[in-house]
Amino acid sequence: MATPEDKHTTETITHLRRWTDTLISFRLTRPAGFRFTAGQFARLGLQTETGEAVWRAYSMVSAVWEEYLEFFSIVVPHGAFTSRLCRKTEGDTLWLDKTATGFFTLNRFPDGRDLWLLATGTGLAPYLSILQDPDVWSRFEHIVLVHSVRHTAELAYREEIAALPQHPLWAEHGHKFRYLPVVTREPAAGRLSARIPQLLASHALEEAAGLALSPAHSRLMLCGNPQMVEDTHRQLKEMGYRLSRLSAPAQLAVENGW
Ligand SMILES: Cc1cc2nc3c(=O)[nH]c(=O)nc-3n(C[C@H](O)[C@H](O)[C@H](O)COP(=O)(O)OP(=O)(O)OC[C@H]3O[C@@H](n4cnc5c(N)ncnc54)[C@H](O)[C@@H]3O)c2cc1C
Ligand SMILES: NC(=O)c1ccc[n+]([C@@H]2O[C@H](COP(=O)([O-])OP(=O)(O)OC[C@H]3O[C@@H](n4cnc5c(N)ncnc54)[C@H](OP(=O)(O)O)[C@@H]3O)[C@@H](O)[C@H]2O)c1
Repeated sequence: MATPEDKHTTETITHLRRWTDTLISFRLTRPAGFRFTAGQFARLGLQTETGEAVWRAYSMVSAVWEEYLEFFSIVVPHGAFTSRLCRKTEGDTLWLDKTATGFFTLNRFPDGRDLWLLATGTGLAPYLSILQDPDVWSRFEHIVLVHSVRHTAELAYREEIAALPQHPLWAEHGHKFRYLPVVTREPAAGRLSARIPQLLASHALEEAAGLALSPAHSRLMLCGNPQMVEDTHRQLKEMGYRLSRLSAPAQLAVENGW
């Protein structure tokens, strides 16, 4: 059974993009009343061949001001949701929860000078929405996006990321942005290839960004593989960083990708 009709809407897939065999992006029509804050997620649903409903959490990739909703998805070969999602085509439909949720948003940091966005795999998704918020570009002095994947082909959205600093809504702040791709299983000279916690411990991330980390100035968001989130959180704790709460602001916000 799906959730009651008053809790979700049925939306149409208007655009599909296949990055690799295991990574796809898709756009859905956006209901007029669907509101969210950049960094939040919504649940998407579909019906199986036997009539059961399968719901999964998905971070919005698209800007809060776009007319459509975009999502970036893994395809897990026998995954209940994604093995069916990957067979869908433009014109097919998905269910969308009416309410977006989540606390992986920038209001977790009332202060801070430098924003570090650390992702593995599809953990990139919420940052793409956050990076299309004009306030983020004016608020921070430096913005560093780190995306760690196994293989180069999995560095999705490279062209969109490269174009971000020139966007007319925040182009005067474009110089603040650094994009640091990390490819862990195809090491190449001059490219970061170690895991994020090691890159933090060795200061290689700071060197590549040309920016020092400090608890006073740096605000860090971690999203993706839960083991990466745990290991990176532990590393950053050793370096003096703490989870930020609305009642006790600090430096870190974390979100497990599954
Ligand atoms: C808050 C939140 C936000 C999320 N946002 C996204 C998103 O934007 N994009 C997205 O693809 N997924 C996202 N997920 C994961 C998503 O909800 C599903 O788990 C995923 O779509 C796979 O669904 P499934 O039913 O096919 O497999 P599941 O049965 O849900 O998962 C099977 C296994 O696949 C692996 N797995 C699941 N999700 C991922 C992933 N994203 N990357 C790598 N391995 C994975 C894990 O080993 C998991 O145990 C999010 C999860 C949470 C909790
Ligand atoms: N991508 C593939 O080619 C592939 C192939 C077969 C199956 N799968 C399955 O598909 C799913 C998604 O794969 P994925 O490649 O998107 O996700 P992933 O395994 O999370 O890898 C994405 C990035 O996260 C890094 N990472 C993993 N664990 C980490 C940790 N504890 N600390 C820091 N960094 C960490 C990986 O580095 P490392 O390379 O060092 O792990 C890689 O750079 C997984 O369940 C995987 O088992 C993927």
